[in-house]
Amino acid sequence: MPRFGVLGSGKGSNFRALTEAFQVGTLCAQPVIVLSDVEHAGILDLGRELELPSRFVSPGPFRTKMSPAAEAEIVRLLREAKVDFVVLAGFMRVIKELLLQAFPRRILNIHPSLLPAFRGLEAWRQAVEAGVPEAGCTVHLVDFGVDTGRILGQSRVPLLHGDTAESLYARIQIAEHELYPRIVREFAEKLGTPEN
Ligand code: GRF
Repeated sequence: MPRFGVLGSGKGSNFRALTEAFQVGTLCAQPVIVLSDVEHAGILDLGRELELPSRFVSPGPFRTKMSPAAEAEIVRLLREAKVDFVVLAGFMRVIKELLLQAFPRRILNIHPSLLPAFRGLEAWRQAVEAGVPEAGCTVHLVDFGVDTGRILGQSRVPLLHGDTAESLYARIQIAEHELYPRIVREFAEKLGTPEN
């Protein structure tokens, strides 16, 4: 079964959804390590609860990316854990060359909008402010851009009368927890086939 590492900065609800799918046997891939740029992130507590190696990696001096040394440490830990691919689950920094080159077309991300609409931060708030009739979430491969890589799957979430940014985001997260395990499974099943 393919092995994957998880990178996250927050509470880790998507990681929880992935581990639940793994535990009931529907993920077809195994989480083997959790890494975070935030020392007290909930996702690390969750990893420890599951008895997975769960490590804080100090990101260095930049706010939106990791230092090259931090990326190198993440690559080292992922390789040591023998991962086949990497899942970003609420990782709030932009991925740079070292990590991208170590796992080409092997890094997945989930973003809370119907990409290419509303890239960047708080996409659900952008959707409410733009007054669009529907929002959603997207799983995509990570490339050198921000939220620009090849789209692997999407779920639509209609806006309801009276929606706030918060109420919409709560429904988008429910959709994420269904979408991400489904797409990770499809991705894992295709790994090793000729075009992958
Ligand atoms: C998700 O909404 C995801 O779309 C975005 O970060 C959030 C992470 O949430 N990339 P969680 O930590 O998985 O709850």
